[in-house]
Amino acid sequence: KERVLTGIRPTGFLHLGNYFGATRNFLQMQQAYDCYVFVADWHSLTTHPDTKELQNSVRRVVAENIACGLNPDEITLYVQSDVPEISELYLYLNMLAYKGELEKTTTFKEKVRQHPDNVNAGLLTYPVLQAADILIHRAGKVPVGKDQEQHLEMARNFAQRFNFRYGAGEEILPEPQAFNYSGGELIKILSLDGNGKMSKSENAMNTIYLCDEADLLRKKIMKAKTDQGPAEPNSPKPDYIENLFTLMKLVSSADTVAKFETDYNNSSTGNVVIRYGDMKKQLAEDMVNFLQPIREKTNELLNNPEALGKVMQAGKDKARASAAETIRMVREAVGVKYY
Ligand code: TYM
Repeated sequence: KERVLTGIRPTGFLHLGNYFGATRNFLQMQQAYDCYVFVADWHSLTTHPDTKELQNSVRRVVAENIACGLNPDEITLYVQSDVPEISELYLYLNMLAYKGELEKTTTFKEKVRQHPDNVNAGLLTYPVLQAADILIHRAGKVPVGKDQEQHLEMARNFAQRFNFRYGAGEEILPEPQAFNYSGGELIKILSLDGNGKMSKSENAMNTIYLCDEADLLRKKIMKAKTDQGPAEPNSPKPDYIENLFTLMKLVSSADTVAKFETDYNNSSTGNVVIRYGDMKKQLAEDMVNFLQPIREKTNELLNNPEALGKVMQAGKDKARASAAETIRMVREAVGVKYY
């Protein structure tokens, strides 16, 4: 079975961006592929969160992923800090990562702008740790959103340098590819106000969290950005309108989507057929129905920390077995083997 892997930082509630970029891929892949999904708790330390929150945040990410349909008996679901082999690989890869390229990383530059008082070395080497996460299981495909594309390119570079320097060109660490199971481009779900990607950190009213209550969901969707409708029939959609259609395709019936597509395509200035108010109302109701079982299941799982602990323990054992095998190969290639 081909190996696929992804990581999610425990920095808050999961939102629809995370669902589209990462989780959804595995719902369709968990039987046919050898799947690894982990909670990137070390990565979240780079921005100095309150670590008292960490335990709840990690449990929440595990619970939300299971509630979405990930089956921990089928896949390897684990926590990054449970696999110390990752930190050893991170150390070797750090020798192959250059200060200049790390400083040029988009996510690093963004963090420097946001928090000029906390430009720590962990933040600088964030992509190196991410590469170690992937390479430790020699995963070939990595389902992620568009925002992680550059990190994946860096992971490929580090793998290539490792193989060149220590493997005499032999592929000890395969080069991983960013991946979207549904095919085509990597996905970027927009914030509901149309400004940039949906994210955990910006205004919560523009982000749909999987566990949002029904009334809040309705309020958020009804406030999503729209306009007066297209000027001509069959116009290309502005990205914030395309975004609503993307969300609708996830939760609404094919007939509903087709109806609004047709209305959109038949609209023009003075003859606007598509009614965005109606579209958002429908989207809101379908979203409420889609997310309700996920919210309920999450709460049920969170009420049973013991069961969640067992899942994490089992995930740890599976993940460490695979990681130990890679570290053995890595140590041998690097030459740190003396007796
Ligand atoms: P994180 O925790 O920010 O996000 C988790 C996943 O959700 C995707 N995502 C989105 N996709 C589409 N549209 C959006 N608006 C959107 N927002 C988030 C992200 O692309 C990601 O797939 N660095 C990673 C965590 C990580 C990782 C890894 C990922 C650590 N090690 C190894 C893959 C492999 C991150 O911060 O994701």
